[in-house]
Amino acid sequence: MARSQPRFVCQQCAAVSPKWIGRCDSCGAWNSLVEELPREELPGGTSKSKLDRRAGRPLGFVGLTGSSLLPPRRQTGIAELDRVCGGGFVPGSAILVGGDPGIGKSTLLLQAAAAITPPITPGSGEPKGRPGTAAYITGEEAIDQVRLRAERLGVAGRPVLLAAASNVRDILASLDREDAPDLVVVDSIQTMYLDTLDSAPGTVSQVRAAAHELIRSAKRRGFVLVLVGHVTKEGVIAGPRVLEHMVDTVLYFEGERGHQFRILRAVKNRFGATDEIGVFEMSDRGLVEVPNPSALFLAGRPAAGPPAFSVATENEPVESNLGQISGSAVFAGMEGTRPVLVEVQALVAPAVLGTPRRAVVGWDGTRLAMITAVLDARCGLSVGANDIYLNIAGGLRIAEPAADLAVAAALVSALTETPVPTDAVVFGEIALSGEVRPVGHTETRLKEAAKLGFTEAWTPIRRGKRREAAIAAGFETAPIGHLRELVDRLAPERSPFGSVARQRRFGVAS
Ligand code: TYD
Ligand code: MG
Repeated sequence: MARSQPRFVCQQCAAVSPKWIGRCDSCGAWNSLVEELPREELPGGTSKSKLDRRAGRPLGFVGLTGSSLLPPRRQTGIAELDRVCGGGFVPGSAILVGGDPGIGKSTLLLQAAAAITPPITPGSGEPKGRPGTAAYITGEEAIDQVRLRAERLGVAGRPVLLAAASNVRDILASLDREDAPDLVVVDSIQTMYLDTLDSAPGTVSQVRAAAHELIRSAKRRGFVLVLVGHVTKEGVIAGPRVLEHMVDTVLYFEGERGHQFRILRAVKNRFGATDEIGVFEMSDRGLVEVPNPSALFLAGRPAAGPPAFSVATENEPVESNLGQISGSAVFAGMEGTRPVLVEVQALVAPAVLGTPRRAVVGWDGTRLAMITAVLDARCGLSVGANDIYLNIAGGLRIAEPAADLAVAAALVSALTETPVPTDAVVFGEIALSGEVRPVGHTETRLKEAAKLGFTEAWTPIRRGKRREAAIAAGFETAPIGHLRELVDRLAPERSPFGSVARQRRFGVAS
């Protein structure tokens, strides 16, 4: 048989080109084309190969109710991980965990594998049901390295099945059987390869085919498959986007380099809510759960409520207003079903160069531009002409529009050097007109804030039940209907519309 035409596949978007080109026609990525053999032209004829199960048995359809063959969700006991997965791993599902190198993917998954396998302690009472079994297959590290880590994590005694392998055929031979473990971790999918394909491990075809075979095996045998995926410089999982479509759940493990906190975020979940987060802290004994992230994100900030002690010493200059710092506002946010309070920090400084600088960490730069524009156009401030630095403390990334008002409060506070009261939380969405729009979950946000000692809430105007609920929770609500009212409240002398806003505020509140 004549050698088939060469085929070049873009490693970013999986587009196929008959010849090598420097820039992919379809997605515009540079230098992303790699020669790969088309699957149907593979030597040996894959149609009869062991791995191709096109002649599989029909799907066992079941009703939405009725006795399911699948066991219930398997909880790892790591509550933060279970929550992100929607209440535990669903048997037979495939989970993709992505994240920067060194963020802690291997650590978390080794901990999870250990957590579902009970320690071997002879004589201890049998846990209910069959004890969980887990296999950890590493294609990146040597057995000894994983063992060393297990020892450091204090889980070396757990009966986790460990193997260093990267040939999918071998892995399937050991897993695709009746007594498959309940949890199989494959670290990482980019190192796995099918020997029926000619391309190198990590190429689009290999990643896709290897994931496909492993996922099919998981579905057939009912084990939970966790695939670790590398992340490219742009922050997406390396390999084809289709990988994210193939799996049931996509989790991203993120965190700022310098921070101890690691945030596990569900981006896609067929069995639960997305945007649910799990918060961990990296310690010398692995990842430790953080059940109350708000307290952690607000740590180091002057405490809410009247200051219990004076921060002034003879040598250090005293911060104005008893430890209150301008340019900081506490945002009462929601991450999935959980309220999370974070501090928004802003620094506004006169621009030295012609074009003002913008540096944003943990928040969307475009949204910041919008808020500065609204502050300038609708409130008569000149924020936009300055250098602006915005930071979400603790390394959390916020995507909620409800943070608009908190960002605006931090900006106005920084610009006018007036602190936002330390016992106030702020939330609300800002429209281009400068109106402050109500957001969801007001009660949940306020409850969390009350738990942490906050007593004042700067919120959008809400009449009726919600407002009463806030008052009942012991909150002094300060409704803000327009951004001007925020400026007026923080710095009345800077607000050209001050009197108007004041009138309006009293008009609504009464
Ligand atoms: P790792 O799980 O290997 O990251 P990934 O698989 O995502 O590449 O995590 C490695 C990092 O975690 C490394 O920087 C060291 C740190 N670490 C700790 O701080 N404490 C620990 O107990 C362990 C096991 C790792
Ligand atoms: Mg790793």
